[in-house]
Amino acid sequence: MSNTIDNLLHEARRFAPSEQFAANAVATADLYERASADRLGFWADQARELLHWHTPFTSTLDWSNPPFATWFDDGALNVAYNCLDRHVLAGNGDRVAIHWEGEPGDTRTITYAELTAEVKKAANLLTALGVRAGDRVAIYLPMIPEAVIAMLAVARLGAVHSVVFGGFSAESLRSRIDDAEAKLVITADGGWRKGRVFPLKDAVDAALQGGDTTVEHVLVVKRGENEVAWTEGRDLWWHDEIALVDADHVAAAFPAENPLFILYTSGTTGKPKGILHTSGGYLTQAAFTHKNVFDLRPESDVYWCSADVGWITGHTYVVYGPLANGATQVLYEGTPETPHPGRWWELIEKYKVSIFYTAPTAIRSFMKLGRQHPQKFDLSSLRVLGSVGEPINPEAWMWYREVIGGGETPIVDTWWQTETGAIMVSALPGVTTLKPGSAQVPLPGISIDILDEAGVPVGKDQGGLLVVTEPWPSMLRGIWGDPERFKETYWSKFGDKYFAGDGARYDKDGEIWLLGRVDDVMNVSGHRLSTAEIESALVAHPLTAEAAVVGAADETTGQAVVAFVIIKQNQLEYAESIDVAAELRKHVSEQIGAIARPREIFIVNELPKTRSGKIMRRLLRDVAEGREVGDTTTLADTAVMSSIQSKLS
Ligand code: WT7
Repeated sequence: MSNTIDNLLHEARRFAPSEQFAANAVATADLYERASADRLGFWADQARELLHWHTPFTSTLDWSNPPFATWFDDGALNVAYNCLDRHVLAGNGDRVAIHWEGEPGDTRTITYAELTAEVKKAANLLTALGVRAGDRVAIYLPMIPEAVIAMLAVARLGAVHSVVFGGFSAESLRSRIDDAEAKLVITADGGWRKGRVFPLKDAVDAALQGGDTTVEHVLVVKRGENEVAWTEGRDLWWHDEIALVDADHVAAAFPAENPLFILYTSGTTGKPKGILHTSGGYLTQAAFTHKNVFDLRPESDVYWCSADVGWITGHTYVVYGPLANGATQVLYEGTPETPHPGRWWELIEKYKVSIFYTAPTAIRSFMKLGRQHPQKFDLSSLRVLGSVGEPINPEAWMWYREVIGGGETPIVDTWWQTETGAIMVSALPGVTTLKPGSAQVPLPGISIDILDEAGVPVGKDQGGLLVVTEPWPSMLRGIWGDPERFKETYWSKFGDKYFAGDGARYDKDGEIWLLGRVDDVMNVSGHRLSTAEIESALVAHPLTAEAAVVGAADETTGQAVVAFVIIKQNQLEYAESIDVAAELRKHVSEQIGAIARPREIFIVNELPKTRSGKIMRRLLRDVAEGREVGDTTTLADTAVMSSIQSKLS
């Protein structure tokens, strides 16, 4: 790893904004000056400029009880009104909000007036189903307009959504429903992926099997046209119910700190954390960053973020940021390579996309497929490119710029997390001279530092742990139902400085390079997975005695899940007769979801442990990455590693 870092830090290419871009840029250097002169005043100005407040706020930040912050506390607003009604009232009702494209090629064009009308009806429907402010609604949908409509309808009522990525299993869905005590689930019969319909309603049925749940109703959007089982009294078709409700709905104002959503993310333990975000501060930073980082001109740009709404990127940069800013965007249901490997580039040509935001893992898999695919399409509409989810290696950065960006578009590498709610570290495209591979500088109004283990800031050309030193508007407000875990996870290491869990380094210019997680969290294709969560899924299988999981470097996905498993003594004979690895991979898919399925599973007799019984993942990572095994002197039994290696060769 340190070799790679040295190479990265010697990356010498620099790309200053073109004169023309700089002259017309939305974000200018004075933002930094304004924010550093008066940070809180700066955010208060943004909140007032970018949002409509039913009741204006007078207080900006209350940090008297860290780590529990409130922002714009005495103000009131309606998040959905800010994303919808006000654009219509301002005369922009005919502007396209969503160019939706289904994987099979069916399309829907939805204007702001139409989206507003749909959300009003959906809000009335949810009200009819008993949803009130503060209630939790689980959303388990494919990338169809109803996903956006459902989220905004929940927000409009001051209720709280918990979107669960459609790739997660019934088990994962159930644990999220239970943790949040959701009273309603919104799902679809199925969605399109890789040329096939994948069932969602089946998974909801499996999740709710046996009753004993807080869920009163399941609202089902018809999309896949696949057959579904039906529980009378509980299940309702969206299209039937929406036809019965009133079209009018007046958005009420809710306090700025009203919870907006819970989104589960993996941590260092087996149980995912329900990250809680609230309304006013979150929407302020979502809108501010979407406008300034992407140089957004809502009247003329066509924006596309390829993330699924099941992730934080989909929440902030598909739903709340773009819609708060009145942007026109593309929403695509399917996978990049269906029905042909140029599908994304075809969509960029078709909709004349001007701002495109995606993940390094996608870029690397396109690099592998070759430039002949994008070259078949006219990508000249693109003027800003973004990257998120993991460090982007300079080769991928250069390919992105050359092949997709025509050698000219700025690329913003945006560092943030589910917990931060919105972008924290990024270049501003008309201001910053770009450096491939570096996320570069904190945004105006955001205070970041890199500390050593003792909490002392490191200097230029030095590495340490990334922290946020001052509260920010879109910061998480807690972990749902678990304030102690919130304090312990993020605030116990450096007091009132937020510990992000990422290693980072300042280069010679004092700019920031992200180096990956420092905890037992893996990053696979830009998605966060916990080693502990996969290990506990593995040991839940009757064959497994013990398991250890590591993230091994992978050319395309960044990291890949590699598992080392010990089979129970009394199961050894049976295990000989089946394909154990295949069986366990399937099991992890069922327990968590296909994204967590190990790339490789090695069956071993022992695991390397310290004398105190801690698994030494570092050594397993050496094995998984095909390297010579490092220092084994702290192992309780130094022979273990040779035993493992002899099993693998
Ligand atoms: C973790 C957060 C933020 C939305 C997607 C992932 C890594 C994210 C970058 C970047 C280097 C990055 C970090 C972070 N990460 N963006 N531009 N450069 N690393 O959200 O699932 O909450 O994961 O993703 O390790 O801690 P998430």
